[in-house]
Amino acid sequence: MHAPILSPSLLAGDHAQLGASVRAVEELGLSWIHLDIMDGHFVPNFSFGPQTVAAIRPGSKLFFDTHLMLDEPHRYIEAFAHAGSNQISIHIEPAYDHAGTLARIRALGCKCGIVLNPGTPATAIEPVLPLVDLVLVMTVQPGFGGQPFRRDVMPKLRRISDRRRELGLTFRLEVDGGIDVATAAECRAEGADTFVAGTSFYRAADRAKFAADISSLA
Ligand code: DX5
Ligand code: ZN
Repeated sequence: MHAPILSPSLLAGDHAQLGASVRAVEELGLSWIHLDIMDGHFVPNFSFGPQTVAAIRPGSKLFFDTHLMLDEPHRYIEAFAHAGSNQISIHIEPAYDHAGTLARIRALGCKCGIVLNPGTPATAIEPVLPLVDLVLVMTVQPGFGGQPFRRDVMPKLRRISDRRRELGLTFRLEVDGGIDVATAAECRAEGADTFVAGTSFYRAADRAKFAADISSLA
């Protein structure tokens, strides 16, 4: 089983001082940061785009864990790779060439991930499991930070974790939405190893303790 990784979501950081919000992650000795990209179509909200990713890239050595919430992600892969994303994750729900897009992400030198919404069954992603470095299981309906954790997603998380073992695959299993130390522990028990936290991280009274608690999940 992979060691736990915390991937703080910049969406919940101070957007007037994005550089400082990125440094706050790096200064804790963390290695990942989660970048939420929204297009106002796939989700009813906007966040930021490749120009912003490129602007924060020179000041950071963090692994840019990029989550594209886009109707047409295949059109923007190159833009995010060139902006400095280290990993690009795309949703399974829109209709486009998923396998081909994952292969293009890899060819651009990035790791690739597949994402599924709470209402999407595990069977939808099974064909692409051998192609990915990461599976991102949404534990809220994407679009906004600060929503309550969806416990009904837990059986699906377990199922994907079981499939990983049965198939002998090594992709990371990430959860995103309503994650704090307690819900991360619940997800860890079902096989998750990578934890996105926006609100709970940036609002934590003691971020170092929050990070240590996630990193030490058994
Ligand atoms: C949801 C985004 C999440 C979000 C998580 O649309 O994909 O990454 O920022 O936020 P919290 O941790 O506040 O639920
Ligand atoms: Zn996300």
